[in-house]
Amino acid sequence: MSFLNGKNVLLGVSGSIAAYKSILLLRLLKKEECNVKVILTKSALDFVTPLTFSTLSENQTYVNFVEENEDEKTWNNHVELAEWANYFIISPATSSTLSKLVTGNADNLLVATYMSYKSKVFFAPAMDLEMYKDDSNQKNIEILKDRGHYFIEPASGYLASGMHGKGRLEEPELIIEFFKNTVKKELVFFEKKILITAGPTYEMIDPVRFIGNFSSGKMGFSLAKKASELGAKVFLISGPSNESVKGFDIEIKKIVSADEMFDECVDIFPNVDICIMSAAVSDYKPENINKEKIKKDNHSNLNLNLAPNKDIISHLAKMKNKNQKIIGFALETNNEFENAKSKLVRKKLDAVVMNSLNHNGAGFDFDTNQVTFITKTKSTEFSLKSKDEISEEILNEILNL
Ligand SMILES: Cc1cc2nc3c(=O)[nH]c(=O)nc-3n(C[C@H](O)[C@H](O)[C@H](O)COP(=O)(O)O)c2cc1C
Repeated sequence: MSFLNGKNVLLGVSGSIAAYKSILLLRLLKKEECNVKVILTKSALDFVTPLTFSTLSENQTYVNFVEENEDEKTWNNHVELAEWANYFIISPATSSTLSKLVTGNADNLLVATYMSYKSKVFFAPAMDLEMYKDDSNQKNIEILKDRGHYFIEPASGYLASGMHGKGRLEEPELIIEFFKNTVKKELVFFEKKILITAGPTYEMIDPVRFIGNFSSGKMGFSLAKKASELGAKVFLISGPSNESVKGFDIEIKKIVSADEMFDECVDIFPNVDICIMSAAVSDYKPENINKEKIKKDNHSNLNLNLAPNKDIISHLAKMKNKNQKIIGFALETNNEFENAKSKLVRKKLDAVVMNSLNHNGAGFDFDTNQVTFITKTKSTEFSLKSKDEISEEILNEILNL
């Protein structure tokens, strides 16, 4: 799955002979699994048709502020369009459109939407050699760059006017590459490697029975997906769980027992920047695993001798270098805060995410959770939220460690 999957992209097209290239750009955005809506200026209609963009984008194409449908008038809300968009690309951007963006001449839907849009836009100018060089045009480009917008420089070469020089709209493949690289670099976990553990562990008693717990893996999988969306390279080690990472670029290792989880963690940990231990690892395991299924004996009790499992997080904390961060999870049923804080100090962690089974809708197998993020110096409590929202909050806190 593309890291742009599900992102909303507005594509603004103005009246340049290069407008046909925006059709290819739209195709490439769709290939990146983006939702795309297209705004055309009235001049763009001389070069391309709304039908082409509507068909390829699978969305309405926007041209006017007001649409007349039979006897009814409806209006296209530029504020809603701006709010809908995660990203806004104006390609091709004519000289006239650039000047309107600079002066705020919102006499068309594209410029009005630009002015309502709160983030930075990508703009790809296209025009003839002399027009491009013109002082007013160059000043407008500089102003837009100074505002922090992303400038996609035109290429040099053969121009529609028959001349040679700078002004050609950059090729769609290069525009999309620039767009993707820029977006990726701005993701907060760009180039960070994160190890996340999830789910329960099963400690075998005999070939058919185990000691386990009710952990579903939902919290760890949600953290892994969110971290991946935010640009991280994620290594997920999961105990038995029904969750999946289908569609995400996540390296997943499936394990069963705490010993297996220990081995995988020790192997991967030296290569990561952050380690989030959200798995519910069994503290104990049967001292011996019966080779055959234990038979029922109605006359005597069955005693299981349990041996402690290795403490994975403490082991990793001893391995850690000064640039690595380790975050533990603490599920407590009593004296929650004191126990979680003591885990943080005792195990030399950077933070502990405490969740309590005492809150309705929090803990194992729920899609929601209520947690407190505890560091040595502060604790931040989050209200009951979906595990996806909680993941984002936790990852934001980790960024500030
Ligand atoms: C055939 C033709 C090609 C044009 N190509 C460009 C162009 O590449 N760049 C540009 O800035 N203007 C170009 N123009 C002029 C624009 O269409 C004109 O300035 C228009 O008002 C732009 O409006 P808009 O920015 O609202 O789309 C071209 C005009 C024609 C007739």
